[in-house]
Amino acid sequence: GRPFFLNFQSLTFRQICPPRSTRFFFEVALVKIHVLGSAAGGGFPQWNCNCPQCAAVRGGSPNHLPRTQSSIAVSANAQDWLLVNASPDVLQQIKSFPGLQPARALRDTGIGAVMLMDAQIDHTTGLLMLREHRQKLPLYCHPLVREDLSTGNPLFKVLSHYCDIDWHDVQLQTAFQVPGLSGLHFQALPLISNAPPYSPHRDKPQPGDNVGLSVKDEASGKTLFYAPGLGQMEPHVWQAMQQADCVLVDGTLWTDDEMIALGASKKTSRSMGHMPQSGPDGMIEWLDKLPAGVRKILIHINNTNPILDASSPQRQTLAQHGIEVAFDGMEITL
Ligand code: MLT
Ligand code: MN
Ligand code: ZN
Repeated sequence: GRPFFLNFQSLTFRQICPPRSTRFFFEVALVKIHVLGSAAGGGFPQWNCNCPQCAAVRGGSPNHLPRTQSSIAVSANAQDWLLVNASPDVLQQIKSFPGLQPARALRDTGIGAVMLMDAQIDHTTGLLMLREHRQKLPLYCHPLVREDLSTGNPLFKVLSHYCDIDWHDVQLQTAFQVPGLSGLHFQALPLISNAPPYSPHRDKPQPGDNVGLSVKDEASGKTLFYAPGLGQMEPHVWQAMQQADCVLVDGTLWTDDEMIALGASKKTSRSMGHMPQSGPDGMIEWLDKLPAGVRKILIHINNTNPILDASSPQRQTLAQHGIEVAFDGMEITL
C-alpha cells in the first residue's frame, strides 16, 4: 500500500497493524504467490558446503543470491495466506515477509492454513517452529504424508504436545477449497518423485507421497501449477501444466549426475525424484513444449546447480528458453 490515502481510519489501522491492513484498502483481489524460499534442501549456501557456489555466496558475490529452503505462500486477497510447505527456514521467511506477520491480535498470523506437498525434511520441519500457534492449525496433506510424519518421522506426534492440528486429508485429483482462503480452488495431482528416507515408500513411489498443486483463482480464472519435486512427466501432470498460466516447477539439478561429478553425493537427480533441467526428457525440453504465454519458473534449486550463478552460461540458456529462476521474495501475480 502507498500512503496517499491517509485518513484518520487508515492511520489508526496502520498503527495497530502496520503492513497488512493497508493492502486491504488499495489492492485488487488477484491471486498472489509469494516465494518464501527458492532453494532445495540445504539452502544456499548450505551450512557444511564449500562448493564453488556456496563459497561464492559467503564471499558476497553479486551473481549469487542467498536462498532459503523451498516454500511459497498463496493468497487471493493478500491478507490470508496458504503456506505451501513449512521449511526449516520458516521463521526467517516470516521475518522477511510482512504478509505472514501478526497484525490483528496479541497472538496472530497471516498464515490461514498449511499445505504439504510431501513429507521431506525441507518441506515439513518448519511446522515445529509454528508450535506457538494459539488456534488449531489447519493442515492439509495426503494421508501417506500424514502417515510418514506420524511414524518414520513422528513430527506430528511431537507437534501435538504444543499445538492442536485441524486435519484435512487431501484427496488426489479432487477439487477442494480451504476455509478462510475464499476465491481459491485447489487440486492435488500425484507426482512420481521420491518419498523421504524414513518412509517405507523410499524408492518405491506411491500415489500421494508427492503431489503437485493446481491453484485456480475464481476472480481471474488464472491457474498456477506448483511442483517443487517432479521426477518424471506423466500425462495428467502434462495436461495440468498446459492448462496453467504459470508453472512453478522442480529446478533442483541441472544435470542428472551433477552431485556425483562434484563428489558431493552418489545419487543421481532422477533417483532422488528430480528431473534434471538439461538433456533428453529434461525439464527444459518439456517447458519448451508448453503453449506460448505460459510463464515458466524454476524453484527448489540445489546449491550445486550452476543456474544459481546469474552469470553462468546455463542461466543464459534458461533465458533463451524464456525460463525464469525463482528467488526469495519473488512475487507472482496472476
Ligand atoms: C529432496 O527434495 O530430494 C529432499 O528434500 C532432499 C533432502 O532434503 O534431503
Ligand atoms: Mn526437497
Ligand atoms: Zn554448495
